Amino acid sequence: MSEPVSRYHPRTDVPRLIAHRGASARAPENTIAAFEEAARLGVRWVEFDVMLCGDGTPVVIHDETLRRTTGTEGRVAETGLDALKRLDAGRWFSAAFAGEAVPTLVEALAALDRLDLGANVEIKPAEGHEVETGEAVARLLRDHWPARLAPPVVSSFSPDALRAAHAVHPGHDYAPLFDAIGVDWRAHMDAVGAQALHCDAVRLTADRAAAVVATGAAIRCYTVNDPADARRLLAMGVESVFSDDAIPLD
Ligand code: G3P
Ligand code: MG
Repeated sequence: MSEPVSRYHPRTDVPRLIAHRGASARAPENTIAAFEEAARLGVRWVEFDVMLCGDGTPVVIHDETLRRTTGTEGRVAETGLDALKRLDAGRWFSAAFAGEAVPTLVEALAALDRLDLGANVEIKPAEGHEVETGEAVARLLRDHWPARLAPPVVSSFSPDALRAAHAVHPGHDYAPLFDAIGVDWRAHMDAVGAQALHCDAVRLTADRAAAVVATGAAIRCYTVNDPADARRLLAMGVESVFSDDAIPLD
């Protein structure tokens, strides 16, 4: 007798539209201003990236280097929180956002609570810091996630970071991130009890989407800024799209 095909049972409360790095088309990515803009636009969830800075504090930032979003030379993993907090993470985007800070994860969670926003927290370890980043983020979310909000989805491109997070707190809702979904996608999901995977919209084929959806697993796709692309993906069975703006889906 053949093995029964295990089926996934993803949660049903994740919205179709998730603001990528906050509403990053309208405010500097991964800042409290970008979360506020998402909430103002009526988007219910945001995605953001978390890395450890030099003293091990989880902070909200995408790149390993500071140059693009703060105009400063240096690496996040080698910059202490005091120095990081002196940087301007808004001016690169526009003068209207000058003075916007790199948030800590704790500050980001307080903003989510105030703004009534759900979130996909992407663990974005600097190279070589995968395990410690996964552990620190899982621990902090376990201890500080605002209880009145829906639980977060915790994702990462790094299998090591996800496994380390899962070892600290198996109770989070994990989702592996892929550029393209490889043949081993179920192994990556099952290693952390995931019910969903996140992937690059550009590299998702209709056949692969159908195969994933047939197992019951949810697919969420980044980064989708064209409403027509979003509608095509949703019609393929994709559950949610990460977008830099509040694009119309109907
Ligand atoms: O989590 C979805 C998406 O944010 C992954 O890519 O590079 O924008 O963090 P990236
Ligand atoms: Mg991200």
